[in-house]
Amino acid sequence: MAQLASSGTTVTLRVHRFSPRLARERDRARGSSPFARKASPFGDSPARAARRPRGRQWTQDYTLDVCGDETILDCLLTIKRTVDPTLMFRYSCGHGMCGSDAAAVNGTPTLLCKAKIADWARRPRAVDAEGFRRTVTDAATDDVTSATDDVASADGNGLGVIELAPLPGFAVDRDLIADIEPMLEQIRRLKPYLIADGTLATTKDGKVDVLEYLQSPEQLARYETLTTCIVCGACEGACPVYAGGEAFVGPAALINQARFIDDSRDEATLERLEAIDTADGIQACQSVRACSRECPVGIDVGEEIWQLIAQVREREA
Ligand code: SF4
Ligand code: FES
Repeated sequence: MAQLASSGTTVTLRVHRFSPRLARERDRARGSSPFARKASPFGDSPARAARRPRGRQWTQDYTLDVCGDETILDCLLTIKRTVDPTLMFRYSCGHGMCGSDAAAVNGTPTLLCKAKIADWARRPRAVDAEGFRRTVTDAATDDVTSATDDVASADGNGLGVIELAPLPGFAVDRDLIADIEPMLEQIRRLKPYLIADGTLATTKDGKVDVLEYLQSPEQLARYETLTTCIVCGACEGACPVYAGGEAFVGPAALINQARFIDDSRDEATLERLEAIDTADGIQACQSVRACSRECPVGIDVGEEIWQLIAQVREREA
């Protein structure tokens, strides 16, 4: 367990780490054994093969000093700069604008830069006299006989433990970095741009001034919230149906389509509704609505998808 010098409150980040096996190591392993699995006799889709992690997986604890106001991203940056430069994670803006740092925090998809340590740290569980694992809320609890790990004692003054893993539903590139390319590909496939002829605005003397798409405030209000999607993938990570875009196009791609379908300027509404009305499209949605809970920008993803389903049905009627 890596530990930073402690003088006050501490927190332990328990990071699920993954280091991919190099291609040449894979080839060597295959060539060296006559029993090495070369290909599935049932066929393995390239996407599925790519999602299967091949490499070393382990869990690593980092205990560090905090004041409680830091975000998990702050802590990861401290660890990277001062303790372990090999720890890999992705981020860019640092304040909830780019969506690049979504990961699973205590199993919940969320943005690392918005997740406050004090909100996510959990006291470690200990085993009571009857063998049940209890959350330690009171250090003086008589029933507790032994801590499940050394964090309880090492982190006696601490806020507790935060478990970090890559975004669920995606292949892992390395440590906390998920491969979100399948999500981006699904979005690209559905034409994530305005399809419109537009209205040419002209100057008084008849010359083309600017290409303008006119819209009233009410028309803008219909889809404006959806334009705030930062394509973080938290909704995909929370969705029990989504698994890399093969069985289900995923909530992020559907939200992107809803943004254009609800836009009065877009002229491809029917084409868009047709494109999502497929077995791996809107028909695969089970309306679990776990996606709504995790959206960091507050889009009610499940409700928006439900509205899309209604529009698809209306078109059929
Ligand atoms: S809808 Fe919300 S959770 Fe899903 S990708 Fe967009 S911002 Fe992220
Ligand atoms: S780093 Fe950009 S959203 Fe978190």
